[in-house]
Amino acid sequence: MKKILGGLAVAGMMSLALVGCSASGGDSGGDGLITVGFAQTGSESGWRSANTESMKAAFSEENGFKLVFNAADNKPEAQIAAVRSFINQGVDAIVIAPIVVDGWDDVLKEAKDAGIPVILEDRTTSASPDLYATWVGLDFQKEGQTAGEWVAENFGDTPTNLVVLEGTTGSSAALDRATGFNKAIEGTSINVLDSQTGNFTRADGKTVMEGFLQKYGKDINVLFAHNDDMGLGALDAIKAAGLVPGQDIKIVTIDAVHDGMQALADGEFNYIVECNPILGEQVAEIVKKVLAGETVEKSYIVPDGAFTQEDAIKLLPTRPY
Ligand code: AHR
Repeated sequence: MKKILGGLAVAGMMSLALVGCSASGGDSGGDGLITVGFAQTGSESGWRSANTESMKAAFSEENGFKLVFNAADNKPEAQIAAVRSFINQGVDAIVIAPIVVDGWDDVLKEAKDAGIPVILEDRTTSASPDLYATWVGLDFQKEGQTAGEWVAENFGDTPTNLVVLEGTTGSSAALDRATGFNKAIEGTSINVLDSQTGNFTRADGKTVMEGFLQKYGKDINVLFAHNDDMGLGALDAIKAAGLVPGQDIKIVTIDAVHDGMQALADGEFNYIVECNPILGEQVAEIVKKVLAGETVEKSYIVPDGAFTQEDAIKLLPTRPY
């Protein structure tokens, strides 16, 4: 059963007893701290930086943790190698933000055999659910659907050409956002001219958009970017082509990080669906519960919002990321 997680108080986290933890008692280092290996995807976007910061803050010594951090530069083999190294180090728990959905079964079995619980954060995998304790993340399909509904509502009645900048190929974020979006625009007059990966980065977003503009020029009416960073990269390409972003080409993105919200406030983006990166406290709370042998849900979904230009102007001054 899916459960919505609200904000969890740090005081509540601290009050959880550490007795009854895993084989090592959650203190494999003998220093009174829970050693957690965190296999992050890389540092591809503003969202990722905010997520890493939130994880590092939550998994602090002050909160009872020793964090072993690895960012795999978005290379799935490197991320699996990092998880293997956490197993060899005998950490108490492993947290993974899986770059791609496939390829996890073997290493997750190795962690299970070593008695080390695995907690997924952010993205999901296709691995058997009995190989990990739980997952804390976002409803990517709903995010894509919300973006698609906005496009359908605003442009679905007139012939409209749309291009898509997809996230990392094979990631649950890209796969599920595409599913949700396509479902929402089904049966409308939106024509998807092209859809290619921009790897969730500004640089690739710019390069791929340049290609779209060379091929389709002024025929492009709407851009859907699977994250803010690719949309921000595309802004440069659109301006260089002599077009006005937000006017000649309407832009909808996902994330709502600071630079994306600024582009929305400035009228260069037209709509942003939120993807909340502040997952650290929730994940840390759950790691403690798992190690204490408490029952946890199989998945925890953190709620997202969606923003117009008016919202962005109002929210920007107080947004934490
Ligand atoms: O998995 C979440 C996605 O990964 C974010 O939308 C994107 O910006 C990030 O890199």
